[in-house]
Amino acid sequence: MSDTNTNQTKKRILSGIQPSGALTLGNYVGALKNWVDLAATDEYECYFMLADLHTITVRQDPKVFRKNTMDLLALFIASGLDPEKNPIFFQSHVPAHSMLGWVMMCYTYMGELSRMTQYKDKAKKHADNLNAGLFTYPSLMAADILLYQADLVPVGDDQMQHLEITRDLANRFNNANSPTFKVPEAYIPKVGARIMSLQEPTQKMSKSDSNENSYILLLDPIDKTVKKIKRAVTDSGSEVKRGEGKEGIENLMNIYSATTGKTMDEIEAEFDGKGYGDFKSAVAEAVAETIRPIQNKYNDLMSNKDYLVQIYKNGAENANKTAMKTVSKVYRKIGFIQP
Ligand code: TRP
Repeated sequence: MSDTNTNQTKKRILSGIQPSGALTLGNYVGALKNWVDLAATDEYECYFMLADLHTITVRQDPKVFRKNTMDLLALFIASGLDPEKNPIFFQSHVPAHSMLGWVMMCYTYMGELSRMTQYKDKAKKHADNLNAGLFTYPSLMAADILLYQADLVPVGDDQMQHLEITRDLANRFNNANSPTFKVPEAYIPKVGARIMSLQEPTQKMSKSDSNENSYILLLDPIDKTVKKIKRAVTDSGSEVKRGEGKEGIENLMNIYSATTGKTMDEIEAEFDGKGYGDFKSAVAEAVAETIRPIQNKYNDLMSNKDYLVQIYKNGAENANKTAMKTVSKVYRKIGFIQP
């Protein structure tokens, strides 16, 4: 018989995001908002993790790191994740991640890790700190997922390769020992386009962009965000439509779609005969309407730290229970003497 979570009714989801800096509108639309929608269906048992162990593969200033991590926790909840229903926890609070992470490293081949495009990119960017953690990052990510016997993992394109390696590692371990891990699948959300830079709409919106006008931060003052949207790059035409050379408009349409729920066709119809000025005002308004309640909730939460502490403690306790079951099995199967 298999040791995976066959006796549970709801499919399980593990989602993770790094507390590596201020959250952009792109991060919100591409990840957080999807999680909120997923959790709202009540179809899945979800674990939401702040992958802080992964974040230190790039050098962090402790003060800033601590602030980013608490901010992200508050934003999870402010965006609508319900910690009563689904555990929200810090990866560093659940020792099982490090424990299984090591085991996974011993099952991962150097060749596999060398092929990871994210590693190659990051190695170029952080040539001054090419640490082993940056290299073995996918092994730890595999551990994150396999610990929870997750059925599904919501990932963007950039994490697909890591999910593939996770599946390979699960199969490798299962074959070498006996069925232990569920082999997870990618969960690709039905909606939710990639949000691009407001200044160079062929590139992903990123907070590490040197041009501040290219990204929107969830916690930026609203008037600043409105200005950035009004300054967004468009094209020399005048029609609110998708098409060749209209990446800027299409990006704004995606933003409008994500913040209003309207489809691209509906948006084209809505702005038929209207100009870019009107359209940008509507986008700015929709973004403001989305962000404002999140900011209000965030501010409430930040003035109630005790509540946040309660949430991450409960989350870790819950996560720890599930994760340690898997670690115990793995340790037994490997041949470690029972403590
Ligand atoms: N590597 C992911 C990212 O940078 C974050 C992450 C860490 C993650 N562990 C995970 C995502 C487990 C999903 C599942 O986006």
